[in-house]
Amino acid sequence: MDDLRQKYLGAVTSAADEPALEEVRLAALGKKGEIALNMRELGQMSPEERMTVAPTLNALRDEVASAIAARKAALQDAALDERLRAEWLDVTLPPRPRCQGTVHPVSQVTEEVTLIFAEMGFAVAEGPQVEDDWHNFDALNIAPEHPARQEHDTFYMARQPGDNRPPHVLRTHTSPVQIRAMLGQGAPLRVICPGRVFRADYDQTHSPMFHQVEGLAIDRDITMAQLKWTLEEFLKAFFEVDRVDLRFRASHFPFTEPSAEVDIRCSWDNGTLKLGEGDSWLEILGSGMVHPKVLTAGGIDPAQWQGFAFGMGIDRLAMLKYGIPDLRAFFESDLRWLRHYGFGSLEVPTLAGGLSR
Ligand code: PHE
Repeated sequence: MDDLRQKYLGAVTSAADEPALEEVRLAALGKKGEIALNMRELGQMSPEERMTVAPTLNALRDEVASAIAARKAALQDAALDERLRAEWLDVTLPPRPRCQGTVHPVSQVTEEVTLIFAEMGFAVAEGPQVEDDWHNFDALNIAPEHPARQEHDTFYMARQPGDNRPPHVLRTHTSPVQIRAMLGQGAPLRVICPGRVFRADYDQTHSPMFHQVEGLAIDRDITMAQLKWTLEEFLKAFFEVDRVDLRFRASHFPFTEPSAEVDIRCSWDNGTLKLGEGDSWLEILGSGMVHPKVLTAGGIDPAQWQGFAFGMGIDRLAMLKYGIPDLRAFFESDLRWLRHYGFGSLEVPTLAGGLSR
């Protein structure tokens, strides 16, 4: 009995892994295992003999079984430790070296603007960059003889010979998307329309292709006060300041009545722009109450619905927020410029985490 005990306890201790341990278990306690066979022999013994042998044998079986269980647990612990060691990972390391590409400031600002307006319930609407004359002008109350047509320095598309319809244009503003959204979705409506626009103009603050974002809210009781609140909230969130001071200056756009250009209070100390304080005013957007004719063109009854609209330059917002002096550089694809002003592709703006991290 003692030999058996020595033999199997020794084997259990020296089993190097779980399969080896399982072999020991089968050899000792399995159906044809040595201890099991011994137990079977109990049946042939005399009762007296059995009285002495059986308890020892039972004890031996239990001892070997619990030694196996203990060894098994120890082997599993060791295996887990080994795995943890092998799979060790420093979670404080940056996920990846900074990747080569960066997010362009225009894309970054578009994201930021979209996020802020999404929070206020505005959806994004889009339209074509090659626009027909009606959507770009007529529907927005800009008649053919209207001076705004000249002011916009429009790019006209070539016409097929014999086609007498007005030529298509590269859209001069995002306002035609207002019309498309009204016709497509009806009232009530809350959309912003970011996108590319085109005008034949080129200097430090003008580029023939640039970006605007349009806003449009239509409902039964929209007022100018709501326009003001919306713009104030937007500008505070966008420039990440606690207060902004806005000046609504009477202006004229054919598609809004009344119309206002909006200036933001700022200071220029040593050439650095500070918003919300100072004695200067910076014009940042155009806005107004949607003209009844424009609602009508959009298939919306102006006796039932009113709306406000605004439009601003995304590139200009980016220049102001990120201190970029020359608009033309946005579109020159100079890698040094892109690396300097670009944003990390993993740094997605969020309102909670900060827009411009
Ligand atoms: N479409 C105007 C522009 O390009 C901006 C604007 C949009 C003004 C909406 C008022 C309302 O200058």
